[in-house]
This record gives sequence, C-alpha cells and structure tokens, in this order.
Amino acid sequence: MKKATLGRVYVWEVPVRFYHWLNFLTVVVLAVTGYLIGRPLAIQRAAEASYSYWFGKVRFLHFAAAYVFFFNFLFRIYWGFVGNRYAGWKNFIIYRRDQLREIAEVLKVDILQARVKPMDTIGHNSLAGFTYFLVFLAFLFQSLTGFGMYSAMSDAWLPRLFAWVVPLMGGDFAVRQWHHAFMWAFIVFAIVHVYLVFYHDYVEGRGVLSSMAGGWKFIEKETK
Ligand code: HEM
Ligand code: HEM
Repeated sequence: MKKATLGRVYVWEVPVRFYHWLNFLTVVVLAVTGYLIGRPLAIQRAAEASYSYWFGKVRFLHFAAAYVFFFNFLFRIYWGFVGNRYAGWKNFIIYRRDQLREIAEVLKVDILQARVKPMDTIGHNSLAGFTYFLVFLAFLFQSLTGFGMYSAMSDAWLPRLFAWVVPLMGGDFAVRQWHHAFMWAFIVFAIVHVYLVFYHDYVEGRGVLSSMAGGWKFIEKETK
C-alpha cells in the first residue's frame, strides 16, 4: 500500500486570516443592512416616533461596518507589500506564462471536472488569485460609491474626500443602483467561493478549508 508522508507549510499568517474573517463578518452585516436600506420593512407601530428608530439603527450599523470594512481592506493592501510570499500582491496578477497554464489546469479540474488531481500551488492558485484581484477591485468600487453617497450625509473628513464620486457617476440614483448591484455580485461570489473551497479541500486533501483558520496547509513530502 502506498503511504504519503505529509509535511505542513505555514501559508496564511495571522493578519491574512484576521483580514479574511473580519471582512467576512463586515460583508455579511453590510449586505443584510444594505438590503434593508434598499427595501425597508413597512413596520407599523403605535409608539411615539422617536422610540421607533429602527431604520436609523440599520443605517448606523451599515455605516459603522463600512468603516471597519474599508480600513480592513486598506490593511490587506498594506499586507500585500509586507506579508509572506503567499500574501504578496504578485499572487493576484497574471504576468507569467505558467500562470496561464495553471488557469487552464484549474478550469479542467473545477469546471470540466475532467481531472481530479491536486494542484501544485501552495498559496492561491492563479485563477483564485486573479479572481480575488477582481473582488478587491469590487471592494474598492463599493467603498468609492458608499463613501460617495455618505459624503452627502456627513461632514467628517473621510466621506468628504469622496464627494466627487456622485457627480462623476451621474447622480445619486445611478450610484445607488451600482452600489446595490455590487451587493449581489458579492453574494454570488461568496456562494461560488465557499463551494470551491470545500471542493478543493476534498480534491486536494491538503486542508484548504482549515488553512484560513489555522494557517497551515499540508503537502506530500515523499511517497513510499
Ligand atoms: C464560510 C465562508 C468562507 C470560507 C470557509 C472561506 C474560506 C477561504 C479560504 C480557505 C481561502 C483561501 C483559499 C485559497 O487558497 O485560495 C479564502 C480566501 C479568500 N476569501 Fe474566503 N471564505 C469564506 C467566505 C468569504 C466571503 C464571504 C468573502 C467575501 C465576500 C471571502 C473573500 C475571500 C478573499 C478576498 C480571499 C483571498 C484572501 C487573501 O489573500 O487575502 N471569503 N477564503
Ligand atoms: C460589501 C460592502 C457593501 C454592501 C454589500 C453594501 C450594500 C448596500 C445596499 C444594498 C444599499 C441600498 C442601496 C439601495 O438599493 O438603495 C446600500 C446603501 C448605502 N451604503 Fe452600502 N454597502 C457596502 C459598503 C458600503 C460602504 C463601504 C459604505 C461607505 C460609507 C456604504 C455606504 C452606503 C450608503 C451611504 C448608503 C445609502 C444609505 C441611505 O441612503 O440611507 N456602503 N449599501
């Protein structure tokens, strides 16, 4: 019987894992509160108006989570320059021929399911890395449109920096539509992302799923 000896590699440092789960939490809060802002519940109450400030609380939660989301995102960009080689910004762009080859391999495994073979990469595979790059661009867009709208409601210095976004994009209505549509893009991404993480965990057997918790992945050292 063949026996594989597994070695473990420390892939995701604490800041990457911290970023990931804080981002997960804020995106969930932003999507739920954002959905309610776009489609408010028609709650009828006999109470005095100032006692039923639920919509104000929903908006407050959205804005508070937005600040956390934004600074967490800036922190991840910073970590792309100082973190280990799996966290670095080069993992997110396609600039080598072998990365294109790897994308074709991943498509064969993930979409065509023509092969059930572990990928050789330890960090993000090239397709995953590039997808995260697009997701980071979407996070940037969501921050620009969000703070752009917020600049009309706040005198704080940070939202004021984004006051140019709304006129540039053709007014409040257009910006809200885009901001809303991107929420659905994140929901679709999250569904596919979680499916793929589970799938790769099974196909590769290297602990992809738990790697975002403990940081370790497992690779075959030798086969007896
Ligand atoms: C239960 C839910 C989730 C699980 C189990 C999970 C798990 C993981 C794992 C294992 C990785 C590393 C995969 C790889 O090697 O390529 C990863 C990366 C990533 N995930 Fe998730 N994820 C979840 C939800 C989300 C959500 C909701 C988002 C955002 C909308 C998200 C955004 C990302 C991003 C941006 C990365 C790249 C991380 C980086 O390099 O900084 N994840 N996730
Ligand atoms: C993953 C990130 C985010 C998601 C999923 C999200 C989602 C949403 C949604 C669905 C709406 C309602 C749009 C509509 O249909 O009218 C909304 C409104 C809004 N969001 Fe976000 N948002 C995110 C990030 C942000 C950020 C970073 C800010 C920055 C401050 C922000 C500020 C706002 C503002 C100001 C409104 C309008 C509130 C109002 O007019 O009452 N959002 N968001």
